[in-house]
Amino acid sequence: MDVEFAGRSVAIVGAGIMGAGIAQAAAMSGHRVAVCDQSSEQLEKAAQEIDRSLGILVCKGRIDEPTAAAARNALRFCDSVEEAAAGVDLVIEAVVENLEVKQRVLGAAAVVASPHAVLATNTSQLSISSIASGLGQDADRVIGLHFFNPVVLMRLIEIVRGLMTNDATVEAAQAFAVSLGKETVLCLKDSPGFLTSRISAIVRLECLRMLEEGVGTAEDIDRALRLGLNFPIGPLELGDRNGLDTYLLVLESLSQSLGERFRPTVGLRNLVAAGRLGRKTGAGIYDYAADGSIRDADSHG
Ligand SMILES: NC(=O)c1ccc[n+]([C@@H]2O[C@H](COP(=O)([O-])OP(=O)(O)OC[C@H]3O[C@@H](n4cnc5c(N)ncnc54)[C@H](O)[C@@H]3O)[C@@H](O)[C@H]2O)c1
Repeated sequence: MDVEFAGRSVAIVGAGIMGAGIAQAAAMSGHRVAVCDQSSEQLEKAAQEIDRSLGILVCKGRIDEPTAAAARNALRFCDSVEEAAAGVDLVIEAVVENLEVKQRVLGAAAVVASPHAVLATNTSQLSISSIASGLGQDADRVIGLHFFNPVVLMRLIEIVRGLMTNDATVEAAQAFAVSLGKETVLCLKDSPGFLTSRISAIVRLECLRMLEEGVGTAEDIDRALRLGLNFPIGPLELGDRNGLDTYLLVLESLSQSLGERFRPTVGLRNLVAAGRLGRKTGAGIYDYAADGSIRDADSHG
């Protein structure tokens, strides 16, 4: 693959919060994008969400109508990994944060994608080398492309090199990030949580601990970090946006690799057990009204 990465074919596996955002960003940047998910309901939801988001960007004057129309035309929603990844230059998996599932979907994609395709994972913290170890001779084309939520607005992509990742794959991943108009940082060591996730995980965890200890309300903890420490958004509110189920999986994995300081709280486990996963289920640490506004700033930690 040459180092320029424009107008390519990209497959996104997993059409949840991140997959939908990555698909939209890639389609808005002139790539042909095929998206799949194991859930047809989720795929439909992603299509609606992308459509809605493109409409908002047009209304706000951030893109023009022809760009939005071109992005819609560039998107294809598929029934299987095999259909989405056939012949593509780049696969990005954004499925559940689970090593075996990620190995399985990237392995299935590698069989049908172009023989030179980059095989990227959007994992928040799993070892790229471990994911790659399930890919046999394709392991040198596996790389971490860690996006941030909301993908279309966030400027950074964290690129994570695994032990087996070859130089061409790093260069292609960087070129893809540039084609999306993003900035990159390169995580040189395949270390759990990379440069970003271990920080965001620990900050949010400390906020949850304060909430559960009754030190302050969720609203005041978030307000304190926004107004006093200059966080653009409160860590608890961001947790609801990112999905508390994903956050719990991240903490369980980080606590195994980096130790006790990442152990999830009882309150977080209870929220997830109760199906309060954040905005995607209408309730998490906060309760949300139908229009998405916070309805009830209460201590559900
Ligand atoms: N949420 C965030 O803010 C965030 C940020 C950066 C990275 N990540 C990472 O991105 C990945 C996805 O997170 P998310 O928040 O989008 O999760 P999500 O739960 O919103 O979406 C995951 C999607 O993957 C689908 N899926 C699961 N197994 C599948 C399979 N075998 N084949 C096809 N589809 C499958 C699910 O149906 C679901 O729609 C995770 O690895 C997560 O750690 C998340």
